[in-house]
Amino acid sequence: MRPFINLTILAIETSCDDTGVTLIKVNKKKLSKIKVLSNLISSQIKIHQKYGGVYPFLAKREHQKNLPLLFKKAKKEAKNPKIDLVAVTVGPGLEPCLWVGVNFVKDLAKKLNLSIIPIDHIEAHIYANFINIDSKAELKNIFPALCLITSGGHTQLILARDFGKYKILGETRDDAAGECFDKIARMLGLGYPGGPAIEKEAFRVQDKEYRIKITLPRPMMYQKNYDFSFSGLKTAALYHWNSQKPKIRKSKEYLRVMAAEVQQAVIDVLIHKTLKAAKEYKVKTIILGGGVSANKELRKQLKRKIKKELKTASYQAPNTKYSTDNALMIATTAYLKWLKGEKGKDWKKITVNANLRIENGI
Ligand code: KG4
Ligand code: ZN
Repeated sequence: MRPFINLTILAIETSCDDTGVTLIKVNKKKLSKIKVLSNLISSQIKIHQKYGGVYPFLAKREHQKNLPLLFKKAKKEAKNPKIDLVAVTVGPGLEPCLWVGVNFVKDLAKKLNLSIIPIDHIEAHIYANFINIDSKAELKNIFPALCLITSGGHTQLILARDFGKYKILGETRDDAAGECFDKIARMLGLGYPGGPAIEKEAFRVQDKEYRIKITLPRPMMYQKNYDFSFSGLKTAALYHWNSQKPKIRKSKEYLRVMAAEVQQAVIDVLIHKTLKAAKEYKVKTIILGGGVSANKELRKQLKRKIKKELKTASYQAPNTKYSTDNALMIATTAYLKWLKGEKGKDWKKITVNANLRIENGI
């Protein structure tokens, strides 16, 4: 048996409203189980709740405040290991937020003479599915894969022909699915983030007969492309809400029926397009990722549909605790890249790309 040759990776994530710091220990020669030394996340939910969304400059300030504290805490938790390599999200995301993480690791890399592996946030959402992977064989068998990455900032259908080889088949032309949940939840007075709140209300409808019936559109569902549009759904929900008497629209029943219909409309469109693309490109695996992949109903219905309609394709959804933003998915992606020969860059060469597209590479 080959010995375990250590590599300690520090990963930082600050692309949106979560500050993430992770330290992992891995075998530098061959893919084997990742040892998580520390995995910390500091969420800004309470701050952004007031506004019903993320304000980039407010988020930047919070990252600046939290990142050094989290780093100190992570090092302590991991018993002060010698860091060998650094990974950081360089895009896509909110530019002022991305710079906080990138500048932090540049300083550190300069001080400790370390290389930096720049990471694409969307690619990391894909490999959040493989945090527990422990052999190369598992990764070999998944391609070609179709990845549905759906979060607060993105909704994309990506064809992964191999590790590092991507093509965006379609994406949202306006709001992302998570953003649609967040905006509708705000209208309904459910707070931020909207996705989990809508899921909770929708769940209460199960098996119950309500008098209120709401039917919302499934935008672009039957169009021939793989693009999405969720802003029309948000507007339709708003019109419906405005057309109701305050007594009705403030009722629990209305809230629940609306939440369930919004959730189902989003799920219907996502699943329809995903299955269509999976059939066209004859993929081996369908991979779910991004904050919206924490939605239990989406996971359940997608799994069921794949089993029924795509007998040969397998299905991967991340552990729900790794669906939303975290630094462990950044560390995992860096490790997989390292094993493919990426040894990191000099700190001077690292920059931010807020509009990074997975198919173009970093
Ligand atoms: O990936 P993520 O943490 O951040 C971005 O990269 O955008 O995703 C956050 C998004 C939010 O819009 C949130 O409402 C949504 O994911 N989300 C959910 C659920 N949990 C988080 N949407 C639906 N159901 C959930 N359980
Ligand atoms: Zn994300």
